[in-house]
Amino acid sequence: MIKNVGIIGAGTMGSGIAQVAATADCKVKIFDLNQDALDKAKTALEKILNRLIEKGRIDAVEKNRIQGNISYVSDMKSFSDADMTIEAIVENIDIKKKVFQELESIVSENCIIASNTSSLSIASIASSLNKPERCVGIHFFNPAPLMKLVEVIPAIQTSEATLKTSVDTIESWKKVVAVAKDTPGFIVNRVARPFYSESLRQYEEGIADFATIDWAMKEFGGFRMGPFELMDFIGNDVNYTVTETVFEAFYYDPRYKPAFTQKRFSEAGYLGRKSGKGYYDYSENATKPEP
Ligand code: NAI
Repeated sequence: MIKNVGIIGAGTMGSGIAQVAATADCKVKIFDLNQDALDKAKTALEKILNRLIEKGRIDAVEKNRIQGNISYVSDMKSFSDADMTIEAIVENIDIKKKVFQELESIVSENCIIASNTSSLSIASIASSLNKPERCVGIHFFNPAPLMKLVEVIPAIQTSEATLKTSVDTIESWKKVVAVAKDTPGFIVNRVARPFYSESLRQYEEGIADFATIDWAMKEFGGFRMGPFELMDFIGNDVNYTVTETVFEAFYYDPRYKPAFTQKRFSEAGYLGRKSGKGYYDYSENATKPEP
């Protein structure tokens, strides 16, 4: 049974995964290098839980239970009692490998060490460990508390026991698991690449603006969010990096070629909702209404 969970990275995904695990009554410690990220995650959870109370989905007792299950830590050493850790830091293989090496020197022999990577090779991440058989991909979707699907990705080194415990744990957190092969972008992020890239190319070719493409995809395509709204929601930095990784990993197959527009938006800091500006303006004094 997984009882103690360590989350590395208190950003968009880490904070959401912490909420999911805490709701399932795990004791969760969430770590980030950046104190500001920890503070923001704590404040965001308070707001989310208050909103759930307003909607009548939970009561104050439940709110206290969930909050009481989470502690915010500024040192990974406090993960020594973890049964499972889930990493949700920047999508960079070298940084992830370094963090995994440090993590393995802290956690117990049997602790499962998972990554929430969107696109990187789990085999490569696992290779940084002395016990790679305990490594697995556990890929949540954004927002983690709302999205039902979780991809669980065994690397070629992953043991059957690690896979089984991971699947059982995520299902016990009331999620639906798809076991996916360790290939670039796994299932959903690979299928999603052309959704973003073709929309960006349509914009670059002057076929339509962001809002029109989003409107058409929602109105006629049946999508809940248009591609530009979704990229703003995910974060242009994160989404661009995933596209770049999938493109490289498929030996520069042009089907996955990233778009300059997204690269420039990412470089300019127009990351989407989290920075207040992306394809749409989310600032308080926005001149255009947000989508
Ligand atoms: P984010 O940028 O919101 O948060 C990342 C956090 O990690 C930041 O708070 C940062 O301070 C922290 N961090 C960076 N390096 C660190 C280190 N060495 N040690 C501890 N903390 C560190 O990123 P986000 O969106 O949460 O993505 C995290 C991971 O989840 C990435 O691998 C991404 O590909 C994946 N992912 C993202 C999704 C999304 O929609 N944003 C969806 C599914 C997976």
